[in-house]
Amino acid sequence: MNQDIEKILISEEEIDKITTDLAKQIDKDYANSDKRLLLVCILKGSIMFMSELMKKITLPIEIDCMKVSSYGAGTTSSGSIHIILDLIRPDLPACDILVVEDIIDSGSTLKYLTEYLLLKGAHSVKTITMLDKPDRRKVDYTPNYVGRVIPDEFVVGFGLDYAEKYRALPYVGILKREVYEK
Ligand code: IMP
Ligand code: MG
Repeated sequence: MNQDIEKILISEEEIDKITTDLAKQIDKDYANSDKRLLLVCILKGSIMFMSELMKKITLPIEIDCMKVSSYGAGTTSSGSIHIILDLIRPDLPACDILVVEDIIDSGSTLKYLTEYLLLKGAHSVKTITMLDKPDRRKVDYTPNYVGRVIPDEFVVGFGLDYAEKYRALPYVGILKREVYEK
């Protein structure tokens, strides 16, 4: 285990099970839609979750990416969302969008993106997050699909970072406080 990790919260095996279950549910829920199912990966934190999920969904899908920032350098969200990489395609009215997020904290990012993509004309917008920290919610927002609800701890790994580090860890772990409080 990485020396900066306090404890492993979700192992590789558990992530495999979580993504398998979510993919089955998505297969079921979108089976009868005549729209194009478009998975939108929110860079960079969601890349590993997205790639696991898209392997396991059996319906035909398309993928795209957006990049937003709500975080400064530390471990708390600034609350204001900036779109750094936009979703630009002419066929949004023909798309059921599933926004793929790594973790929900204040809720601002997904609430903002949902409204934004609907305004841009998407037929439907739903959200899926690997992790949810409901104790930290600042805006009223409930995602459509949640992998795992976790306590209010700062976590890294499986795409999630602290100051751009730890994204490549194959598990989700709680970061030792001394790493960001020193
Ligand atoms: P929200 O807009 O406050 O919900 O912020 C969600 C974003 O904050 C996520 O996409 C992550 O980039 C970041 N974030 C929130 N909590 C954590 C964490 O525990 N570890 C790493 N990144 C986090
Ligand atoms: Mg993120």
